[in-house]
Amino acid sequence: MAAARGGFSSRLGFILAAAGSAVGLGNIWGFPTQTASNGGAAFVLVYLVLAFCLAYPAFMAELLIGRYGQANAVTSLQKMSRQAWQKRFAFMVGFGGIICAALILSFYGIIAGWMMSYAVEPFAKMIGMQQVSEWVITQGIARNVLFSALFMFLTVSIIRSGVEDGIEKWSKRLMPMLIALLVLLIIYVMTLEGASEGLDAYLNPDLSKIFEPDLLVSALGQAFFSLSLGTSVMIIYGSYIGKRENLVSLGAQVTLIDVSIAFLAGLLIIPSMYVAQAQGVAIFAADGSLISGPSMVFSVLPTLFEGMGAMGLFVGFAFFILMSIAALTSSISMLEGPVSYVVERHDIERTKATTGIGFLIFLMSTIIVLNLDFMLDFVATLATEYGQPIIAMLCCIFVGWIWQRSELLEEIKQGNEQVENSLFWKIWPWYTKFVCPVAIAMVFIHSL
Ligand code: TRP
Repeated sequence: MAAARGGFSSRLGFILAAAGSAVGLGNIWGFPTQTASNGGAAFVLVYLVLAFCLAYPAFMAELLIGRYGQANAVTSLQKMSRQAWQKRFAFMVGFGGIICAALILSFYGIIAGWMMSYAVEPFAKMIGMQQVSEWVITQGIARNVLFSALFMFLTVSIIRSGVEDGIEKWSKRLMPMLIALLVLLIIYVMTLEGASEGLDAYLNPDLSKIFEPDLLVSALGQAFFSLSLGTSVMIIYGSYIGKRENLVSLGAQVTLIDVSIAFLAGLLIIPSMYVAQAQGVAIFAADGSLISGPSMVFSVLPTLFEGMGAMGLFVGFAFFILMSIAALTSSISMLEGPVSYVVERHDIERTKATTGIGFLIFLMSTIIVLNLDFMLDFVATLATEYGQPIIAMLCCIFVGWIWQRSELLEEIKQGNEQVENSLFWKIWPWYTKFVCPVAIAMVFIHSL
């Protein structure tokens, strides 16, 4: 089966696919939601620091593991191991990541389903189907199951056909459009009353808050979630990159794209909340904190679009369609994790594996939908705030402590001959070995 492995056809193809995985609901739904629930600008600041100082080095570790191993996460990690206990440890880390990816997809599909339903709403309105337009945006079990099933169906259809035709093709079209729409919307929002207050809340940090344990753990989880780390996904994507590519700069570019889009999304949504407030919508809870929670984005943005009159229908439609596609380029990467594992390790046909795993994950989504209030938050917290950072930390430990330095250098040199003399090579290996694991562990200890 290994002979049938795919690969990215070009450098740009990889950047787009990896950025496609990274950019998704995490940027446009997760980041603003977390920013609002963690007191605004202080969270933004901590997030930016953690994304560049911890998530980027961990991202590089995962890409290197994958490109070296040329296989799914478990096989790749085992290739680096020499002793029996290391191989067992490799299995635990790799497989743990795969389970984590599946868990994330099970709740991600539900939120992505909301994005699709909010795209259907303006469309239904335009063609005069008033009742449908109301039903699709009203919380309900039937609606949630229907739309998460639809989303999972799309994800499975793309992954069935493999990496080149699937992942790359979809990622290529979306990113420029999404950025353009975000920028236009930001410009529009800035002209409205209340925006400057929102800008202040977003950009002017209260420094006394930056060491709050909750804020730190949330920012760390958000940074790892946004770069799709700790779930085997970037190991797989690394395994599809050619040996002639310069991983150091590819990784940096993807990180930059991802962080910028999250920042733009916050720049749109936080000021939009204050614009809504100027129009009489309550945005503060009784204790004075900003309202947040998983549905915040879905009340703030439609309010903004409504204020645009008839134009708002088109803008809302375009926005939620783009978001659905962004979610899709992320969800396909999540499904690719478990699928490539099953295909390569158990010799099961790709199409069968994809359908089977997709169905199991959909069942999990249904269980969450049936207990939405409790389970959504529980699964999301478990997988993103604990699972991802811990597994990413273990990957750093693998690279720093188990992989031989000479092998690591040889791998990283491919596509980047001069790396040995670069600042990156002077800092990153020991940084990954000591600083990353210790810093991640410290955030957790601090939170207890
Ligand atoms: N990074 C994506 C986002 O921000 C989510 C995502 C895609 C992901 N693939 C992943 C998260 C794998 C964790 C693991 O929306």
